[in-house]
Amino acid sequence: MTDTPVALVTGAARGIGFGIAERLVRDGWRVIVADIDAAGVRSAVDHLGPAAVAATLDVRDEPGIRALLAQVRQHQGRLDALVNNAGISDPHCGPIESLGLTDWNHWLETNLTGPFLMCKHALPLLRERRGAIVNIASTRAEQSEPHTEAYAASKGGLVALTHALAVSVGPEVRVNCINPGWIDTRPASTRKAEPLREIDHQQHPAGRVGEPADVAALVAFLLDPQAGFITGQAWTVDGGMTKRMLYTE
Ligand code: NAI
Repeated sequence: MTDTPVALVTGAARGIGFGIAERLVRDGWRVIVADIDAAGVRSAVDHLGPAAVAATLDVRDEPGIRALLAQVRQHQGRLDALVNNAGISDPHCGPIESLGLTDWNHWLETNLTGPFLMCKHALPLLRERRGAIVNIASTRAEQSEPHTEAYAASKGGLVALTHALAVSVGPEVRVNCINPGWIDTRPASTRKAEPLREIDHQQHPAGRVGEPADVAALVAFLLDPQAGFITGQAWTVDGGMTKRMLYTE
């Protein structure tokens, strides 16, 4: 078994998941970069260096998850952390009257059933290490724009899965959830070419739109033994947006 702590991060080929993997590698973790996007996984692992391990995985695929966790046991001998970040991040599903069951399931299967399956199969390894799980939900678990029912329901379900699981699997394993607000995940080149408007930043009490590193910093803390008294909670990382009163004047 390696002496290095091992984390499995889903959806780590890009965006917030890549930011989380980057932070954990910097903090000394070995990180399994799991994503449905095989080319994205290869490129992420190239960027992250030798502490990153590539895994092409669809979080809706239970046999695939079982096989990956068996490989983790065989090759790493341990799993200290699971970060369920993979998701359909576009919240807009259209009016509910025209939302088909297939589309509804598209959000639910990736954003909620995926984390359920990942937790289920990772738990034996996590228990052995007294490890931790962090689920990436959304402020949309608690607030909505029109026509986002499937996404909101999937993320609300993930918040509930978090506290239910924390009560079931403690004290061996801690389970927390992060609700990000607006996180700009666009590549640096796009951000430079198409900067956000000043109002996009100013409307946040923190004065700016979020970045993957903002979420990654809290993931790193929640996985650390320093957070040993924290479980079952949903942590909002949104620059204060959900604390603003928004009545039209
Ligand atoms: P993104 O779309 O840039 O990245 C999502 C990653 O998940 C991609 O690499 C994609 O290939 C992967 N993925 C999608 N379906 C998958 C599956 N079935 N199996 C394995 N991997 C799969 O999204 P972003 O913005 O980085 O979001 C990451 C998480 O954070 C998502 O769960 C999203 O809902 C959540 N979030 C994002 C916010 C934002 O403003 N960017 C705000 C609140 C929550």
